[in-house]
Amino acid sequence: MSETATPVAMVNVQIDGEWKQFPKGTRVIEACMQSGKFIPHYCYHPKLSSPGNCRMCLVETGRPKMAPDRQPVLDAEGRPEIAWGPKPEICCSAEVSEGMGVRTTSPLVEECRKGVMEFLLINHPLDCPICDQAGECRLQEFSVEFGKGESRFREEKVKKPKRVDIGERIVLDDERCIMCSRCIRFMKEIANDDVLGFLNRGSHTTLSVYPGKRLDSNYSLNTVDICPVGALTSKDFRFKMRVWFLKETKSIDVNCGMGSNILISSRENVVYRITPRENDFVNSCWMPDSHRLNFHYLNSEARLKDPLVKGEEAPAKWTRAIEAAAGKLRGCDPTKTAMIASARMTNEELFLARRLAEALKIDQFDVLLRPQQGDGFLVSDDGNPNTTGAKLLGMATGKMAGIVSGVESGAIQTLLVLGEDAVDCGISNGALEKLGALVVMGILKTPARGLRMSFCHPARGPRSAAR
Ligand code: SF4
Ligand code: SF4
Ligand code: FES
Repeated sequence: MSETATPVAMVNVQIDGEWKQFPKGTRVIEACMQSGKFIPHYCYHPKLSSPGNCRMCLVETGRPKMAPDRQPVLDAEGRPEIAWGPKPEICCSAEVSEGMGVRTTSPLVEECRKGVMEFLLINHPLDCPICDQAGECRLQEFSVEFGKGESRFREEKVKKPKRVDIGERIVLDDERCIMCSRCIRFMKEIANDDVLGFLNRGSHTTLSVYPGKRLDSNYSLNTVDICPVGALTSKDFRFKMRVWFLKETKSIDVNCGMGSNILISSRENVVYRITPRENDFVNSCWMPDSHRLNFHYLNSEARLKDPLVKGEEAPAKWTRAIEAAAGKLRGCDPTKTAMIASARMTNEELFLARRLAEALKIDQFDVLLRPQQGDGFLVSDDGNPNTTGAKLLGMATGKMAGIVSGVESGAIQTLLVLGEDAVDCGISNGALEKLGALVVMGILKTPARGLRMSFCHPARGPRSAAR
């Protein structure tokens, strides 16, 4: 019996005078956004619940005018006439309903936004010049676009804790917090580690970790991403670079087999931060801290910028290094030669490694597999990003144990190591010393291991799994 999808019920909604259809259950703010109407908001986040506590998304709404027979009154075009409500309504938690009307830009709505901005700024410290969020701050942006442009507040601002160390990787500035509760909801609803909450009332409300708790989850830095202001900042990134200088490059996380979508922020070829990029099929809007912080090796002292030839003056010229490697490989005995490639390599690199193995008639080649304990969320059970590619290209052969014992016993005399550290594969330093030829491709020199290099440090972040 073939399965048929249940049709989604659609409702007719009038937004700024235009009638549109939306699936039942759509939040009004989402219906407005889908119609190209931007609604300023702070507490609303599409992946979190909607408590409706910032009031920034106020709009005018109306419901169909009902006749005495409880049927909607229709206009000349057969559409329901709308009875507009006397008060504005937040649109982030309400859902669309049949015959609903929404006004997103009326004078009342504009007045509401000005009022909310004025309240939000009353106690705000406005230390934008030293705030890491400056340049990507929603309070700054909405002040310009929807604020009054002046303050009537002449009293003393409420003072709150600044530079509060609430977690291994997070600093909180309570004066900048606008109490949107996004961070609280993220930790409770997504990271499954309910450690944040509000203390006190009114203008003395402050965000805090619960007594005895810390914001140390391996997903804690997602709270920095979704904090609309500079209240939560990353210890790793704060004061390192003004965000408007950063160039954003779309990429994929290579720390495990999950392939979370990421944005790399860099300036003049130096990476300053990595943040998640939305992809609902892979990582939604999130990523683990341990993965986003594993990039400092790129600028490490051990980074190789030129090739090295053992026993010769460093750095070598590329032509000399290639000639030296080719000299070692040309005419090598294929039965005494092995290649270790990496499931961290791209498909293209793995394809070329396979071509090289074929050209040298090497039969003993493999990649290093990295099974690990995932966290059931965004850290996968596979510590390699491209095990699938290595398998499909025939590079994952299961011959690693034979290669290791061959090198240890001296049966293998020539070894090519591409994108891995042979020691990580289980080969001892002593056995490597005895090889007739060792050719290594990598981006880091590991000082303790002489000329052997590794492609990437293991993830350095904490291991506390969030879920
Ligand atoms: S949070 Fe925004 S408005 Fe507040 S100090 Fe930082 S940049 Fe300025
Ligand atoms: S710290 Fe940021 S995310 Fe958390 S409640 Fe305050 S403003 Fe919202
Ligand atoms: S976004 Fe609607 S109340 Fe905050």
